[in-house]
Amino acid sequence: MDYIDVLKTRRSIRAFSDKPVESSLLDEILREALESPSSSNSQPYKLAVATGDICKKLGEELQSKYYRSNKIQKQPLPLKLLSAITTDALPDSDFKPILGKYPPVFQERRVATGMGLYEVLGISRDDKKARDEQMARNFIFFDAPVAIFFFVHPGMKHTALVDAGIMMQSLMLSATNKGLGTCAQGALGIWRSPIDKFFKVPKDYKLVCGLALGYPQDNKVNQYRPDKIDLDELLIPAK
Ligand SMILES: Cc1cc2nc3c(=O)[nH]c(=O)nc-3n(C[C@H](O)[C@H](O)[C@H](O)COP(=O)(O)O)c2cc1C
Repeated sequence: MDYIDVLKTRRSIRAFSDKPVESSLLDEILREALESPSSSNSQPYKLAVATGDICKKLGEELQSKYYRSNKIQKQPLPLKLLSAITTDALPDSDFKPILGKYPPVFQERRVATGMGLYEVLGISRDDKKARDEQMARNFIFFDAPVAIFFFVHPGMKHTALVDAGIMMQSLMLSATNKGLGTCAQGALGIWRSPIDKFFKVPKDYKLVCGLALGYPQDNKVNQYRPDKIDLDELLIPAK
């Protein structure tokens, strides 16, 4: 594909077919992502790539934590506090606190993007149950056969996150060029322990987020094209 086609074809995919991704193809994508630039070539990231049975079990575990934690959030405060001690469902993310409400302009964009997605899916604004179910699909990676978890070394401070972001985009573009789809998923950074259960993650590495990868399903949700800001909004005017 031409570069511009790859760039414009890449959009977040939220419904995957069950067609597996050949491991040689997956390796090729990961090798291409390794071409990314990084601060002083430090490459301060590590990836846990879940496929097959591990991907399925990890998805079940994450989704179960999501449903249980969601239930706890709806309880009155005393029960919530009790649950905090007795359950293993509460978030154990490496980067705390988990982002709640965004600052105003970003919150507006977030809401507009979310509403646009629900509209495509035919979910009404007040249908909390359907929205929860759509959210829950994050944790089974929208049925993708591959889930990739991105870790960084915190000793590299903010440059580690910049470097990880660049490598994620390289990976997404490489996958798109090969006819695959991806969805970057901050939601996959909420629980760390399930990943430790299946992978030997070095303790000094921190989980940033995840990414679903696979063949896109012919599904209306994959047609969603959220707006991007204009150049005027991007650029800071000169004094
Ligand atoms: C760091 C990051 C985290 C994201 N987290 C999620 C997520 O948890 N769930 C989801 O459905 N999409 C997630 N997305 C996808 C964004 O919603 C998407 O990139 C944005 O709406 C723009 O759409 P596009 O990717 O199709 O251009 C994430 C994207 C990024 C870059």
